[in-house]
Order: sequence, then structure tokens, then C-alpha cells
Amino acid sequence: MPSQPRDTRRAWIKENIHFFSMFLKNPKTVGALFPSSRSLTGAMIREGGDLHKSKLIVELGVGTGVLTGHLAEQLPKTCDFFALELNPVFAQQVQEALPHLTIYEDSAAHINDYLERHHASHVDTIYSGIPWANIPPSVQLDILKSIHESLRPGGKFITFAYTHSYYFRTASNFRDLLEERFSSLEVSPIVWKNIPPAVIYTCVK
Ligand SMILES: C[S@@+](CC[C@H](N)C(=O)[O-])C[C@H]1O[C@@H](n2cnc3c(N)ncnc32)[C@H](O)[C@@H]1O
Repeated sequence: MPSQPRDTRRAWIKENIHFFSMFLKNPKTVGALFPSSRSLTGAMIREGGDLHKSKLIVELGVGTGVLTGHLAEQLPKTCDFFALELNPVFAQQVQEALPHLTIYEDSAAHINDYLERHHASHVDTIYSGIPWANIPPSVQLDILKSIHESLRPGGKFITFAYTHSYYFRTASNFRDLLEERFSSLEVSPIVWKNIPPAVIYTCVK
């Protein structure tokens, strides 16, 4: 962690302990020992491009809200946002921490059910921290169908994979699905400042 004032450091430690305890309760769906670093979330946001050109951004799997908070710092007033999070504790906590954003407690497979409420027919960019390597192929497919259907043509889907699980069967199955569905898939260089290190997938519909 970079050098930070004591209160910030305390909050960071508390958040990590909380995330780790949620991992112990739900190892498969939480899928990581620690939340993403700001290096990883910053690189993901940059992959999304100019936020001012977006009307609606969606995040899937907010966890303790690292990416959500980072996005909130940069989100223009003209851009709407909602997130879907399966875990009720995470969903409620992030909603309380960021009351101006909308966090629904629901599965990422249901993006399309929320578009009307946000007066949108499509999403410009979808960011996701869902632990794909822990998810069975049939569930990966359901969620990816929802992502692909809800994105506008040219819209981006941005997610990440941990390097240690890159060659797991479920992880390569997920990459195959991305290649089949999207017109392009780019894999970033390794983001080392994350526990564990990760690569970012940027997919264009
Ligand atoms: C590894 S954590 C990532 C959290 C955060 N985005 C980050 O990068 O630190 C994965 C999160 O995805 C959520 N999740 C897993 N499957 C999901 C699904 N099908 N729909 C919505 N959220 C899901 C988990 O509950 C967990 O909060």
C-alpha cells in the first residue's frame, strides 16, 4: 500500500479484513482474498475511455466498492450508473457509502431488467470484478449473454483475470466465450500492483 495518512491506512486495513472475512464465508462467489488495488481499478477505468461520452455505465460485483468509489470520483453528472451485486452485505454497504449511486442486490445475469428504470435501451460500458474462474461455464454463459445483449454496438465490457488462475479450465473457457461473442478482445500487460497480480480484458461488442 502506498504511504497514506493514519486514518486512511486504518480504513484500508478494516476494508481488507472485512473483505477477507466475506471471502471465508463465500469463497466461490467472492473469489479473492483482497479487494482490487487502485492500480487495477485505475487501469480498468482508463480502458473504458472517455467517461463523458457515456450515458450509462454498469458495474457487476462491487465487493467492498473499490472500483465503484474510484469510478464515482470521475463519473460526469451526465452519466447514469447502476451496479448489481449478489452479496446482500456488500450491496448494502456500498449503497450506504455511495448514496448518490444505485446498487441493486441481484445477479449480473439480470442487467436487462434494470435498463427501463434507467431510461436506457443499452449500456455504454460494463465493468466487472466477478470471479469468472470460480464460476461454472453454464453460469458464465448466462451472465455473458446478459452483458452482450445489454451493451450498445461498439460498447465495452471490461473485466480482469488473476494470473495464477489464467490457465484454469474455467478461465480459458471464459476467454473462449469472450472471443466467440465480442468483435475484439484485448488482454493488458500484467498489473503487478494487485494481490494477486491480474490482467485486464477489454472486449468490444
Ligand atoms: C473478487 S470480488 C470483486 C469486488 C470488487 N469489484 C473488486 O475488484 O475488489 C467479486 C464480487 O462479485 C460478486 N459476484 C459474484 N458473482 C456475482 C453475480 N453473478 N452477480 C453479481 N455479483 C456477483 C461477489 O459477491 C463479490 O462481491
